[in-house]
Amino acid sequence: MKCYTIWQNGDHRWLAFAQDPERPDNVIDTNQLAVVAGDCAMLLDPGGGELFPAMMAALTQEVPVSRIKHLFLSHQDPDVASALPLWRQVCGDDLTVHISWMWAGFVSHFDSHATFATIPDAGTEIALAPNVLVRLLPAHYLHSPGCFSVYDPKAKVLFSGDIGAALVPRERAGDIYVTDFDEHIHYMDAFHRRWMGARMARDKWVAMVRRLDVEVLAPQHGLFFKGEQVGRFLDWLEALPLGSGLEAYDQAMAKL
Ligand SMILES: [Fe+2]
Ligand SMILES: [Fe+2]
Repeated sequence: MKCYTIWQNGDHRWLAFAQDPERPDNVIDTNQLAVVAGDCAMLLDPGGGELFPAMMAALTQEVPVSRIKHLFLSHQDPDVASALPLWRQVCGDDLTVHISWMWAGFVSHFDSHATFATIPDAGTEIALAPNVLVRLLPAHYLHSPGCFSVYDPKAKVLFSGDIGAALVPRERAGDIYVTDFDEHIHYMDAFHRRWMGARMARDKWVAMVRRLDVEVLAPQHGLFFKGEQVGRFLDWLEALPLGSGLEAYDQAMAKL
């Protein structure tokens, strides 16, 4: 598992853990992020049970596990949340798991002993240190009906969950940032058309993100967008036809 420092100012850091070379081919590649502020750290989409040992080994090179006070789950998927009981066992009793109010009861099937703080639909703020505050912003229906992004106004980093996700072949991964946007479209196009079905939600999310000052947009899968690539991604997403699965209804109905 590689560790990238996405941003740092003193003891306020954004770390990304990605591109695990030990990952089995049948397990989707994921990025796990950590926001560290002094003695407090928050993991963003800490990942599935399959990669927990590699993730623990990489994380503890950078952050003592005792500092992890918050787990943020952008939504309910197993690649986001299934390692939850393992994290709870290694972290302290004061660990809080943040997830949409819609999903706490469902994700409790991964770990009924976790302490959840449910996120209201309009989002909330979490103070990691007296001067470090992250904002949880709605990303509903993209793709989950109860879904959130994380924005840090000081670092100007936006963690976007599955929005911006790309399925990049192992041999093309290279660095963590997109360098050739046109080539990168091939790795994220089909994913967004099929997984994202809500055009109105897409429009609202893009409008919201355009109000933010974003230097790095970091999705849960694939590469990150930096600088001018952030704007290119938003322009691309805004124009993309979504809901490719809807065609299946017509195919099925034609046989009825
Ligand atoms: Fe997902
Ligand atoms: Fe995902």
